[in-house]
Amino acid sequence: MAVQKLKNNVYYVGSVHWDRDIFDELVELPKGTSYNSYLIKGSKKTALLDTVDPEKTYELMRNLDILGITRIDYVVAQHAEQDHSGSIPDILERYPEAKVVTNAKCKNFLIDLLHIDDDKFIVIKDNEELDLGDKHLQFIFTPWVHWPETMISYLKEDKMLFTCDFFGSHIATSRIFGPKDEMLIYEGAKHYYSEIMMPFRTHIKKHLTKIEALDFDMICPSHGCVYKNPKFIVDAYKDWVSDRLDNEVLIPYISMHGSTKKMVEYLGDALVEKGIDVKLFNVLKVPLGEVAMALVNDATVVFGTPFVLAGAHPTIASLAYLANALRPKLKFASIISSYGWGGKAVDHLLGLIGNLKVDVIEPVLVKGDPQEADYRALDELAQKIYEKHKSIGIV
Ligand code: FEO
Repeated sequence: MAVQKLKNNVYYVGSVHWDRDIFDELVELPKGTSYNSYLIKGSKKTALLDTVDPEKTYELMRNLDILGITRIDYVVAQHAEQDHSGSIPDILERYPEAKVVTNAKCKNFLIDLLHIDDDKFIVIKDNEELDLGDKHLQFIFTPWVHWPETMISYLKEDKMLFTCDFFGSHIATSRIFGPKDEMLIYEGAKHYYSEIMMPFRTHIKKHLTKIEALDFDMICPSHGCVYKNPKFIVDAYKDWVSDRLDNEVLIPYISMHGSTKKMVEYLGDALVEKGIDVKLFNVLKVPLGEVAMALVNDATVVFGTPFVLAGAHPTIASLAYLANALRPKLKFASIISSYGWGGKAVDHLLGLIGNLKVDVIEPVLVKGDPQEADYRALDELAQKIYEKHKSIGIV
């Protein structure tokens, strides 16, 4: 993307990847993404803060040319993942005087991943400052947003916080401060949080407390929009990492011949009649990101699956495995399943969700097409979910 001036001598020099459709071969990117790199010109030294994905190195170089940059003193690596570090070797080749400023863990990752020479590094400690002359960067270690080495940088004089993946969003836009509709930014950031940050909820709580002690009026992540109103994204994160739960049941399902679908739809209606919101997601037709976003605050999940071969349908099993890895704050779980000759789907799924500290509500298993007694069992499941939601005060 074109160079954007953010504050005096602070520039966006990154790249928007409009047509990238998947990240880590896992996270779908319906709105593309960006790799935000920032150039900070102090009165004595110039620093480049994060780089871009190697595929977009040419755009970063072009932006540095546009600004007439002939010397870079420091390349700050806040995170070693290659979408931010991947252009560092090219930058070091073009600006041979540049040193990579990072922490010890990140240095080791960068040596492993990019084979950067040991003598190219300046290793900093938590809270250490880098003197650029009239500007100073303070580094604050924030492990697990998103890897164990991640850190953020605070540009004191300009009240700017550079946060790399933390507060990021996968949005491609020509508006550095985001589209006019704030809801689009919110959705993009929530999608990002749900699939990348959610497993690290406990760490994020601590980091939020740490950054709130700082005086800043702009958050500059390394994906998506820059926040001129940082309270907007900090408040959203506070909600997502809090213990607050929605009175909603997520029902991801697959149905091979229609029996599971009948059960799912019946249960959905029974829950709505009790004042509980539902999300019925046929996981073959709904993007994974939608399911992940529902996991951010939903109180309950009910997996709907037919029995296939030796257990649950493989796609539902894969989703249960992912939910288990994302560690949402779910409180309750159940399973509804249709089978022909074997009912092992329940044991299979329960074996996949050991990380979820959920209270398992008696599953409903139906042989073949559901009949009257099966619908009564689904009524009972809806009633139990209602009572569980009532017990935690959300209904
Ligand atoms: Fe955007 Fe964890 O890299």
